Amino acid sequence: MKRSVFTLTLIAAALGLTACGKKEEAPVAAPAAPVAAPAPAVLVGLAIPETHVERWVGDAEYMKKDLEAMGYKVDVAFADADQSKQNKQIEDMVTKGAKVIVVGSVTEAAAQAVESAKAAGVPVISYDRLITGTDAYDYYLTFDNFKVGQLQGEAIKAGLALDTAKGKNITLFAGSPTDNNARFFFDGAMDVLKPYVTSGALKICGPAPTNSADDTWSKITTEGWAADKAKARMETLLSGACKSVKLDAVLAPNDTLARSIIGALEQDGKYKTLPIITGQDGELLSAKWIMEGKQTMTVFKDTRVLAKGTAEAVDSIIKGTAPALTVKARTDTTTYNTGKKVVTSFLLEPVAVTKDNLTKELVDSGFYTAEAVAKGTK
Ligand code: BGC
Repeated sequence: MKRSVFTLTLIAAALGLTACGKKEEAPVAAPAAPVAAPAPAVLVGLAIPETHVERWVGDAEYMKKDLEAMGYKVDVAFADADQSKQNKQIEDMVTKGAKVIVVGSVTEAAAQAVESAKAAGVPVISYDRLITGTDAYDYYLTFDNFKVGQLQGEAIKAGLALDTAKGKNITLFAGSPTDNNARFFFDGAMDVLKPYVTSGALKICGPAPTNSADDTWSKITTEGWAADKAKARMETLLSGACKSVKLDAVLAPNDTLARSIIGALEQDGKYKTLPIITGQDGELLSAKWIMEGKQTMTVFKDTRVLAKGTAEAVDSIIKGTAPALTVKARTDTTTYNTGKKVVTSFLLEPVAVTKDNLTKELVDSGFYTAEAVAKGTK
């Protein structure tokens, strides 16, 4: 008996055969588009020299934030003003796979770590302080350090009316001899003050270098930018070389040292009115002291902008291009010589801050709140 077409169709369906004899596919969901595992974030190292000077904590914080916003992973290490510690931190960053390392160095011995990083294919950016004694890196971001000193010198010149005054007394302090910036600050200040020393309008008590290349410069430096060292030196001056003069001004290279010098002057008791005292960094307690008239001025360097420019430079280097910065910076290809080569430098503008413009520069700019300035702490 011939089977009906109907019966055959049923059998075929039961066997799961199609008309052309193939097994019918069970319906499956359309395969999802392949999801790529997220690329591990590129690592950037930030080797920061110290925390005993307040600004560096901010430098690290701002750069970390800017780089993270660009999608980078950030490793921050503080060196406690110890170069061998920092060199180990830099080696560590290379081992962890950092693609660029930003280094605010402590001493010239940073050069070794920079050279090993370069040998491992990791470029370094010199941050704020020039890394000397090596040609193993290409870019340096900082403020105009000579100008910082000039602003300090100008404040003393104006405060003592040096164009008309006679026989004003000053004593001199400089930063750490291991920090290339310390020379720039001092030479900038003396660029303004030296003519008055020559004319006799300004008399220096204690060691009297007028240039960082002078032999006596080492006598006014402050190893490691240590506040206790500056205080001890000021005490020695007050009981020795400057005992019989009334000081009209003290050239202090930064706020941390300015405050320790003020401490020594207050402790001495002889000064009912403090001499003119310069500073740098716009530290919070110094801001309060400037408003109170204890410290005359500071030089504000907006580290938020330096951090942003540096993050941009890091990003350019990782992308294989020369640094393209949106922040306002002057490119300088002649001034900063490591001893092995002149490094392309990006210089930001420092600003002199006194009681008159402190609110505008430090509060209105959002750097501090008015409450923090009034308290001298956050
Ligand atoms: C920086 C200053 C700072 C000093 C001590 C210098 O290299 O430029 O801003 O006050 O180091 O940390």
